[in-house]
Amino acid sequence: MAAPTIDHDVVSVVRAAIEKHGRNRDAMIPVLSEINRVFGYVPGEAIREVRKQLHDPARQVHIAESQLYALTSFYDMLSTKPRGRHVIKFCENAPCHVVGGKAVWDGLREKLSLNNGETTPDNKWTLVTTSCLGLCSVGPVLLIDDDMYGNVTPEQISEILEHYE
Ligand code: FES
Repeated sequence: MAAPTIDHDVVSVVRAAIEKHGRNRDAMIPVLSEINRVFGYVPGEAIREVRKQLHDPARQVHIAESQLYALTSFYDMLSTKPRGRHVIKFCENAPCHVVGGKAVWDGLREKLSLNNGETTPDNKWTLVTTSCLGLCSVGPVLLIDDDMYGNVTPEQISEILEHYE
């Protein structure tokens, strides 16, 4: 199914997310997550619309666009920029690093010709680093969409990526 077009659907997507998660400050992250899920990222138009719909001084709900941008930038699961169809998250923390993470990271960057945060021109891949994914005992670890890979070696990179052809 095609993703909704940004111009057409931002207001309705934001409205539906707020109806689902509530009209208060605690709803900010779930609402942003819902928007990210629908569009693949959180467009600026959506941030402005969230602020418009949630900010309500009469109810002591004060929300600034800058807060929404800060949250979207802070959490790995959210993005302010469009991402590729597949997102590779590579754990950059020390336990993974000391068991060969650097070589895997270099291999990924070389194979995809990407640096951290970049997307391939065909929009297939986005490569990002992330903090610990909770599988330190099987590092180096990477996550592609919802698939977790542990004990990854540089030699396995091509084979892993081929699963997504
Ligand atoms: S440090 Fe990489 S998964 Fe924990």
